Amino acid sequence: MTMNDLRHRASLLIAPDGSAVPGVVYLVGAGPGAPDLITLRGWRLLQSCDVVVYDSLADARLHAELTCERINVGKRSGSHTLSQEEINALLVRLSKAGKRVVRLKGGDPFVLGRGSEEAAWLAEHGVSCLAIPGVSSSVAGPLLAGIPVTHRGLADAFCVVSAHPRGEDRSFTFPAYQPQLTVVVLMGVHALPRWQASLSALGYPANLPVAFVTWAGRPQQRTLRTTLANCAQAAEEFGLTAPTVAVVGRVAALNAVPAYNP
Ligand SMILES: C[S@@+](CC[C@H](N)C(=O)[O-])C[C@H]1O[C@@H](n2cnc3c(N)ncnc32)[C@H](O)[C@@H]1O
Repeated sequence: MTMNDLRHRASLLIAPDGSAVPGVVYLVGAGPGAPDLITLRGWRLLQSCDVVVYDSLADARLHAELTCERINVGKRSGSHTLSQEEINALLVRLSKAGKRVVRLKGGDPFVLGRGSEEAAWLAEHGVSCLAIPGVSSSVAGPLLAGIPVTHRGLADAFCVVSAHPRGEDRSFTFPAYQPQLTVVVLMGVHALPRWQASLSALGYPANLPVAFVTWAGRPQQRTLRTTLANCAQAAEEFGLTAPTVAVVGRVAALNAVPAYNP
């Protein structure tokens, strides 16, 4: 199949005015918290769908007023309203019934969000789906607390690492220490002492700045700034809870840009 064929096929999956069409599942990124950080494309699909299947990280202010059917599949660490298999089956059932389905996921569905797993499952079951990118908490979470993930002279690269690894030995995928690298850790509250030790063992300096941003983009957003050596203890004293994005690197000491959280 050529690029043009693919483009043509994708164009059949969305109406010319950007609204949803029957039988398609739209994997839409809800953005990092504040409801106005969804994309216009995602918003149009939300306005025109028959049913929205949403996770708890997708801000309720985005969909609470919609008149379409709303199904909470509420995935949060430790408590899943539906299992991944049940969510997959639900998406297939709804789309095969001819519904216009928005699958709304926090941040960007394809950044540690299992978006590609859901897309693969839908394809295997003959269901068309379209990906709608979202603003990921991995970059927007820090920024909403005034922390840019890159900054000339301090960091010219960043990486995003899961602290909930799925590999057989459950080891983290941290890179070797480089002063110019920012490491953003998602799902990091529960395993904090373990990944702190892992970074220290890799030679990350004890005094390297670390920041935690909890509920970024929400009214209850809170930020904790500390260092690698102190971060597990400081987090405990602070009462750190999920969802939190952690920033490890020299930029974590910055408060460079004003942010607005409605
Ligand atoms: C399963 S991952 C999904 C990430 C999502 N796909 C994204 O691009 O933002 C969930 C983790 O993202 C981070 N996260 C998502 N939304 C957040 C928010 N509003 N504030 C802080 N961290 C958030 C937390 O680390 C949380 O444990």
